[in-house]
Amino acid sequence: MQEFPCDKPVLVTCGLPYANGPAHIGHLRTYIPADMFVRALRKMRQDTVFVCGSDTHGTPIIVNAEEHHVPPAEFVKTYHKIFEDVFRKFQIGFNRYGSTDDPTNHHRTRSIVMDLQKNGYVYPKSIKVAYCKSCSRGLPDRYVEGVCPYCGSMARGDECDLGCQRHLEPGEVLDPRCRICGTKSEVREQEHFFFRLSEFGDFLIKYLDTLHATPNAVNYAMEWAKDLKDWCITRNLEWGVKYPGHEDLVVYVWVDAPIGYIAFTEEYMGSVGKDWKSIWKGDSRIIHFIGGDIIYHHCIFWPAMLKGAGYTLPWGVVASGMIKINDKKFSKSRGYIVWVEDDYLAHGFHPDLLRYYILSYTSHTKDINFSWKEFQTKINKELVGSFGNFVNRVLTFVDSKHVDVRGTVDPEVSEAIRVAAEVMKTEIGNYEFKKISDAIITLSDVGNTYFQSHEPWKLIKEDRGACEHVLFNCVQLVKAMAVLSEPLIPQKAAEIWGMLGYEPSGISAVGLDEASVPYVNRPRPKPKILFTKLEDKKIAEMEKILDERVRKAETKAKLQGKKEEEAPIQEAELVSIDDFGKLMLRVGKVLSCERVKGSKKLLKSMIDVGEDQPRQILSGIAEVYTPEEMVGKTVIVIVNLKPAKIMGIESNGMILAADSNGATLLTVEKPSDPGTKIH
Ligand code: 2FM
Ligand code: ZN
Repeated sequence: MQEFPCDKPVLVTCGLPYANGPAHIGHLRTYIPADMFVRALRKMRQDTVFVCGSDTHGTPIIVNAEEHHVPPAEFVKTYHKIFEDVFRKFQIGFNRYGSTDDPTNHHRTRSIVMDLQKNGYVYPKSIKVAYCKSCSRGLPDRYVEGVCPYCGSMARGDECDLGCQRHLEPGEVLDPRCRICGTKSEVREQEHFFFRLSEFGDFLIKYLDTLHATPNAVNYAMEWAKDLKDWCITRNLEWGVKYPGHEDLVVYVWVDAPIGYIAFTEEYMGSVGKDWKSIWKGDSRIIHFIGGDIIYHHCIFWPAMLKGAGYTLPWGVVASGMIKINDKKFSKSRGYIVWVEDDYLAHGFHPDLLRYYILSYTSHTKDINFSWKEFQTKINKELVGSFGNFVNRVLTFVDSKHVDVRGTVDPEVSEAIRVAAEVMKTEIGNYEFKKISDAIITLSDVGNTYFQSHEPWKLIKEDRGACEHVLFNCVQLVKAMAVLSEPLIPQKAAEIWGMLGYEPSGISAVGLDEASVPYVNRPRPKPKILFTKLEDKKIAEMEKILDERVRKAETKAKLQGKKEEEAPIQEAELVSIDDFGKLMLRVGKVLSCERVKGSKKLLKSMIDVGEDQPRQILSGIAEVYTPEEMVGKTVIVIVNLKPAKIMGIESNGMILAADSNGATLLTVEKPSDPGTKIH
């Protein structure tokens, strides 16, 4: 079905980057497709507003600013500017790139919180929060680290980022420690404010069913919506949006960050004399482009908050897959990272090459692997070998042989153009950017075959009229390629547009229909080479930089690991033999195992621990072990752990694993029967 253009205003937003470090290509995984989406909608004459901004509050920022000995306000300004620069260089054309510290956002956030209060969705409650005696302060969110109560992974105070990806409420994380000094934290009682998220379960289940979301977003969210807890929306911090009526508190960053989407719309609409309410209080289509790690916030908290405060609900949520580097999980600390400025732009790579790579690699919801070799192969084959080759051979031929470009469009050429434009019109609403990019490369393949089979280099000598006809058709294809490729590679499309004799910057305002309008001959400048081959030497140089970074990170990790091993265990951490004796460990055998629906990390195993019935145990190891691998394994199980419910499923015990390489299961050295005791 063709969803666009529609008669409603469309707002597209991108997840706000934390202004706490430089941009890496993982960031671009979301922004480039969103920009392409907006450009394609505008080509289809869809009224579209595109906003984003820096996420400047919350503990991710405060912790980092503190580590750099810079006040948060100053710290976020530096990175806000860096992100703005990167977006400009990649032509990611937000109508407004704001900041969550903008006065508009402070005002809108406080107003929404007051609406929620007025509508009875907020209540005060005393809770136990982590406090560090040695640093003499409360430990909200990322100030605290511990163990996830749901899956047993190492977790931050507010989210299980390495395990089941759940949002964690203050006080929930087990074995909490201060992130700054490492001391075990204490628990203190404090009054905070809660949003009645638990009242929105039925609403969310119905709403998610109508949401135009990528399947990865909606499938997870549906599971989560079945089991919602109220949500603490205040924190004891100085930096942030002050909570109305309690100026000693700020709102939780996940309240004021998405409200930034509204504030930035207000700022933009105000600047062009339009009413932002037509979008946020009216009949519009709001579409959020986000990373796969923030689905919970956009499909659960955010629609509930908007509903509770009386705002328009999002129409679509588009969640991207992740970026891997050399087939390894993206990781700053392990060196698997490519910085946009230092590793890419500073080495002279054109922004459109990376735009193309990201858009055409795979479907939007799947993971992209970035390796310099794959980058080279793809660019050289598709952009240099097919797309650029066709544009240049046509325009150079026309120029050097002074061909008069006139004639009629052959049916095979107009059909090829029609098909490519049709793919854009239908697939844009399916968020299938790769299909659109493939259709454009197919068009250039059609062009290369057309050129080759008509042999214009022979016709020019034998039949000038026939030669003009062939070249006219080729130029028509070049024109269509410029129009269609503008959403993908805007700077290169503008260059082609210029080589066809038009004003280069005019390409962005040209509609999709123009692709099939016959080219009218006009004066053209001398053609320039559109894409040059990426040479082996340059790629080898880039690979070396990355390898070196990984190697350094490995050395650092080894040294740190050693330091940790050597660090004396503190008195308070010692346990007595009686304490240890309380834990009942048994040998277990995995009888069956399956993935937990809606979770990337969890496996559900049935384990024989020598009792009448096997135990059902959940573990956060699905990224390391497949269910098939698990069956038949001998494992070590804690059998007297209190039963816990994870994603609504009961877990009766815990399988032990070492932390190395994601997780390595503990087992016994010699065959032992299920149920054998471990002392
Ligand atoms: O996870 C993050 O990087 C957050 N800064 C995203 C915020 S998006 C929002 F505003 F909702
Ligand atoms: Zn977890």
